[in-house]
Amino acid sequence: MLGTLYGIGVGPGDPELLTLKAVRVLKRVEHVFAAASTKNDYSLAHDIVREHLSPNTPLDQLPFPMTFDPEHLEDAWLANCEKVAEILKQGKVVAFLTLGDPLTFSTFIYLMRKVRKRLPEVAITVIPGITSFQAAAASATLPLAEGEDVITILSGAKGAGRLKEVIQVSDSVVLMKTYKQFPQILEQIEEVGLKDNCCFISRCGLEGEVIEQDFQQLSQLKQPHYLSLMIVKKRGIEAKKGEAGV
Ligand SMILES: C[S@@+](CC[C@H](N)C(=O)[O-])C[C@H]1O[C@@H](n2cnc3c(N)ncnc32)[C@H](O)[C@@H]1O
Repeated sequence: MLGTLYGIGVGPGDPELLTLKAVRVLKRVEHVFAAASTKNDYSLAHDIVREHLSPNTPLDQLPFPMTFDPEHLEDAWLANCEKVAEILKQGKVVAFLTLGDPLTFSTFIYLMRKVRKRLPEVAITVIPGITSFQAAAASATLPLAEGEDVITILSGAKGAGRLKEVIQVSDSVVLMKTYKQFPQILEQIEEVGLKDNCCFISRCGLEGEVIEQDFQQLSQLKQPHYLSLMIVKKRGIEAKKGEAGV
């Protein structure tokens, strides 16, 4: 008898943003997996849910390398899938923890595809989580969409090259993964004439949270924290300014 795989969204950092459903399932989980950067073995997602797990629930951190090299990625996904499949074959209740939501820019998506292929009959359940950009908008009290607004979510991992194209058809654009290409992202925002209409939010709901909309200040910042995003509004911004500054 195969176990069940839960993809659990744990929200972007504040442990109070876990759903009741996530808490209920976490209490009966027998094995926990979370993504680990190849650079460190700390799991924020695990930290967020720790108090809801039974003591001694094993945690395995799966290395998902931060690379765009398809061969390297494929090998890592397959190896991670094997580890999860091994536990599922023991009939266990397994959780893969994701920051924010499991189906929004998450390693869970790759894992889910591989596990489905490897064990087609296994039960997979996804528990949605509050995304980072929803929590960031709340922290900044910044409306994301109203009326007939169009909102677009972009990855900034390779820069904001698509901003020019999507801003034509969007009222709000969220740029995720801004940490690597931050100076280029600022350039693109300036080029589309929206430098006074953006809000940067970093470490939302965590110690050291930053909310900043002063473009001058942002330009001083060469590489922000990994947990950083930007919200750009075509019709102007009405967010509150962060206390901490950058
Ligand atoms: C791999 S994506 C994960 C997205 C996540 N699944 C979600 O639903 O928000 C990582 C990116 O999410 C954003 N992010 C996640 N947590 C955040 C936080 N607490 N504050 C600001 N941005 C965050 C950052 O842009 C980060 O680079």
